[in-house]
Amino acid sequence: MRTAEVKRRFLAHFEAAGHTAVASAPLPADDPTLLFVNAGMVPFKPYLLGQETPPYPRAASVQKCVRTLDIDEVGKTTRHGTFFQMNGNFSFGDYFKEQAIRLAWDLTVKPQADGGYGLDPDRIWATVYLDDDEAHALWRDEIGLPEERIVRRGKADNFWSMGVPGPCGPCSELYYDRGPAYGREGGPEVDEDRYLEFWNLVFMQYERGAGTGKEDYPILGELPSRNIDTGMGLERMAALLQGVDNLYEVDETRPILDRAAALTGKRYGERSGPSAAESHPDDVRLRVVADHVRTALMLIGDGVTPGNEGRGYVLRRILRRAIRAVRLLGYQDPALPELLPVARDCMAPSYPELAADFDRISAYAYGEEDAFRATLHQGSTLLDQEIGRTERKLPASTAFRLHDTYGFPIDLTVEIAAENGLAVDVDGFRELMAEQKRRARDDARAKKGGHADTAVYRTLLDAHGTTDWQAYTTLTTDSTVLAVLRDGGPVTAAGQGQIVTVVLDRTPFYAESGGQESDAGMLTGPSLSAEVLDVQRPVKGLVVHQVRVLDGEIAPGLPVRAAVDPQWRAGARQAHSGTHVLHAALRTTLGPAALQSGSYNRPGHLRLDFSWRGGLSPETRSEVEDVANVAIDRDLPVEVRYMPLPEARRIGALALFGETYDETVRVVEIGGEWSRELCGGTHVASSAQIGGLTVTGESSVGSGQRRIEAVTGLESHRYLARERDLVSQIADQLTAPRAEVADRVTTLIHQLKNSERETSRLRDQLLTFQATQIAASATDHAGVALAVAHTDDNPRQLADHVTKALPADRPSVIAALAPSALVITTNQAARDRGLSAAHLIKTILNGRGGGNPQTAQGPRPTDPESALEHLATELTNQAN
Ligand code: ALA
Repeated sequence: MRTAEVKRRFLAHFEAAGHTAVASAPLPADDPTLLFVNAGMVPFKPYLLGQETPPYPRAASVQKCVRTLDIDEVGKTTRHGTFFQMNGNFSFGDYFKEQAIRLAWDLTVKPQADGGYGLDPDRIWATVYLDDDEAHALWRDEIGLPEERIVRRGKADNFWSMGVPGPCGPCSELYYDRGPAYGREGGPEVDEDRYLEFWNLVFMQYERGAGTGKEDYPILGELPSRNIDTGMGLERMAALLQGVDNLYEVDETRPILDRAAALTGKRYGERSGPSAAESHPDDVRLRVVADHVRTALMLIGDGVTPGNEGRGYVLRRILRRAIRAVRLLGYQDPALPELLPVARDCMAPSYPELAADFDRISAYAYGEEDAFRATLHQGSTLLDQEIGRTERKLPASTAFRLHDTYGFPIDLTVEIAAENGLAVDVDGFRELMAEQKRRARDDARAKKGGHADTAVYRTLLDAHGTTDWQAYTTLTTDSTVLAVLRDGGPVTAAGQGQIVTVVLDRTPFYAESGGQESDAGMLTGPSLSAEVLDVQRPVKGLVVHQVRVLDGEIAPGLPVRAAVDPQWRAGARQAHSGTHVLHAALRTTLGPAALQSGSYNRPGHLRLDFSWRGGLSPETRSEVEDVANVAIDRDLPVEVRYMPLPEARRIGALALFGETYDETVRVVEIGGEWSRELCGGTHVASSAQIGGLTVTGESSVGSGQRRIEAVTGLESHRYLARERDLVSQIADQLTAPRAEVADRVTTLIHQLKNSERETSRLRDQLLTFQATQIAASATDHAGVALAVAHTDDNPRQLADHVTKALPADRPSVIAALAPSALVITTNQAARDRGLSAAHLIKTILNGRGGGNPQTAQGPRPTDPESALEHLATELTNQAN
């Protein structure tokens, strides 16, 4: 049974039982405690916790999930995949244990002809939490499962939570016995490869607090209602129904594995033993490739882009692990162009957007592979050098540098070092990494929240509710100070010169987000004046201002007037609308693959990162700029509309990938569909108000990523005015009309090159002439010619020319005297007579100087005359 069919039957079964089918949420989790959605229940968390009223009492979904905690296990066991799909059914205070067990059982054992999965009931085992007698009795009495196949297990196995504070509860898991070929008898406790867990039913009725591991955390209390959260591993069920050994071999991944095997010339499965533990390393690598390539596809598809932090880093690591595995399998060429399209074809039937968006997805993936290949190349050179220098253990600093500068994963360094018989100081490396992380975290905190922990903000939020945020409607508000924070904690007041974080009940300030810099402005009161330095939204709903008190005192309870600098805001609007216009202009010119991946704008300035391989030619840059300015000139209306997210997607609004959005989104249009983006920023009313846009630069910012920079409004004018002044100055100096400046410069460069050539030709002629004269004045010493040259320039060069001016068969020695050096050269005929330049120079300079028989150099002698006489005598002596 194909995976798609497993999915379809699941939803059909639960829809028939009164569940609403809900589409999968995107992988980046809209939850500050998670990077990625890692279970089917994540999108429903607010309903489970009773924070929001669910729109339906029962739901079912097939949720995309990513888990990377066990990334090192991928390929080694049959069960771990970094990307997987979780089929789940949920009850929000509706049915509980009995029906959850019944619904799961029915679908599992219902014959395939009747729309079920048709698993053999005699091979199914169930586990329950230690003291969950109720679940135990349900399995035994309602379902009829023999007691020996119902196992009680402890908290680590049968009490489920997300690993972080949130909903939790005891669970009951279903296992399928795959038979003796897969391992030892005795149930799930004995062998989890043979007894494959395929469904987890969580009886979610408690809320847990912070803690560590799977067992060490407090239960804070009961949830407002008793819920059901289940997770059936889609790939695991597919593996069972397709009769394949593991989840890398199901129809949605096997073709990737096969392609990798064909590329690398490996035969999958031939050299492995029957159980997963006996897998040949090449088979493990092939599974890693299949798993990771698919995960990367799904992540980029959902807007994650490779980077050095957070989600981006996870993606980068996955891509690099895949690329490395292919290389270790012996394939050295770029592999992703061969593998990613296969992954797309596997997944597009369920997720058609992957096919539609494949240009963008593949641009990121291929760019990352190119970059990593270059990295590997450079890093390997450094590593080779270090290996040559090291005797036993590669220092932590080298491993760190390889990681930090060249992106070498530590295990790669360890592996290469081991191949050369070396260890690596891995502990030291980890310390350096931890230190770097600490620094980065401190920096980020210092920047974003004035050192405050988000817990402080959550407390404020609980106490005062969300900030009444007026940035779209007004530039000034009469507000009340709710809190003043310093060094992460509340203070009762702050005085002149102090920099503090201020929370107001109401504010007109735009908090930095969506690439737009925060507003500048002032907080003032009867005896207060404070400058707003930064505005952030550290937790959803709460706006905080970092201010410097210029005068007076600020304290909680104080009424203040919060005023955005109107000029700043006007500039910010121009820059942000300018960013949208430039984005649309790029896409108009280059095509839809040129998609924004990040941006930053503040009054007068903007930059926009977009996916594109290779730089833009000057002509293309001008064209983009022209399209942007035509749009500005046409004074297109700018409209802001609110609509449900699916509606926004339907009308093609561009979302910044990697962001998560609420259900109702704000869409900013410039000229209707010409530019349509999801955006929370502040904008001009119509495009002419942008006041002009000038591109000031375009450069690479990593693989497949370009950055274009521009100025807007008055800055655009000023930038052009400066350029004009520069041209005027050059024209003045050239005394040429402006229109001819470029031609004149070309002519000048041409003339300069000609003159240089002429000068060098003349210098050569002069040298030859000098050399001929010097050669002519050579004196003879017992059959050896001695030529003496004086020069201010290059004595070696002159000596060479003199050698050429003398007949080759005449033994000759040339002595060239420069202001601070003496050079002696010999020709072949002289050397044939046993003369050596090095020997001669040492003789006349009393042991100083050195070189070889042909050329030698030493310091200029204090008495050149007698030194040269000495040389002449030496020649005569040696000849005799
Ligand atoms: N939330 C449960 C799990 O992930 C079903 O296993």
